Amino acid sequence: MQYEFILVEPTFQQHIALIRLNRPKELNALNLQLMQEIKHALSELDQNEEVRVIVITGNEKAFAAGADIKQMENRTAVDMLMIDQFETWDQIRKTKKPIIAAVSGFALGGGCELAMTCDMIVASETAKFGQPEIKIGIMPGAGGTQRLTRAVGKALAMEMVLTGRFITADEAMDAGLINKVVPEEVYLDEAVKMAKEIAQMSPIAARLAKESVLKAFESSLQEGLYFERKNFYMCFASEDQKEGMKAFVEKRKPIFKGK
Ligand code: CAA
Repeated sequence: MQYEFILVEPTFQQHIALIRLNRPKELNALNLQLMQEIKHALSELDQNEEVRVIVITGNEKAFAAGADIKQMENRTAVDMLMIDQFETWDQIRKTKKPIIAAVSGFALGGGCELAMTCDMIVASETAKFGQPEIKIGIMPGAGGTQRLTRAVGKALAMEMVLTGRFITADEAMDAGLINKVVPEEVYLDEAVKMAKEIAQMSPIAARLAKESVLKAFESSLQEGLYFERKNFYMCFASEDQKEGMKAFVEKRKPIFKGK
């Protein structure tokens, strides 16, 4: 597939793929095609054995300023229902490999929701996170009321969703929304550094661990513990488990093959 609104580098670094949102003039506003392209790229990268971690980024000015307002302006509720744009987002959430969002500038509305759909967020000092949909007469629709609330708690989520106030990277860090704040010059490098660290681990263990952490948002504690235990046992079916433990005993670095 030829992409118009994203740039994809499956071999950006060893085992690391990069997806760059590329509608700079529109501050990477997420139109339907762009979201389809992300979904398609993620599904290909998920199947690419060389890739272990995926980084999604925008540019210095904007990660993404939200869903494309111009595309939605004249839509009716029935149009929205039939297009069902958020089905694409559900697919993105199903990506098995770890995804890191490298955010600089605006991460607003759907942009903030896209970052929150990723597994971790590394932000530049200039990043601004917000759910300003209320200012244009709507509300978040791609997880903003749910993922944001789970991440930062009711008080701040309510404030952001009801007033549309943007929060700074430092505030997002304090609130537990993101993993790291770094100078703008190095936000992508830092995200890639984190990706490299994960890429050295067993991809099988990483996949099972990611699945288990996400389960915590969707299940009772008992169900989650049961799910975790099954995934833990499943690790012992991998060569990587044997290699990891053998390397520990032999006091050397393990070499994980994803087998
Ligand atoms: N959709 C479509 N176009 C957008 C856009 C969006 N979400 N955000 C910015 N743009 C466009 C602008 O229209 C402008 O285009 P033109 O040059 O053709 O006029 C261009 O990008 C640059 O934007 P600005 O001139 O507005 O730049 P600025 O620096 O003055 O302001 C901003 C930046 C504060 C981010 C402002 O652009 C803004 O408020 N954008 C909208 C943010 C928003 O409301 N996002 C939520 C969208 S709804 C949503 O996301 C629903 C959901 O849950 C999925």
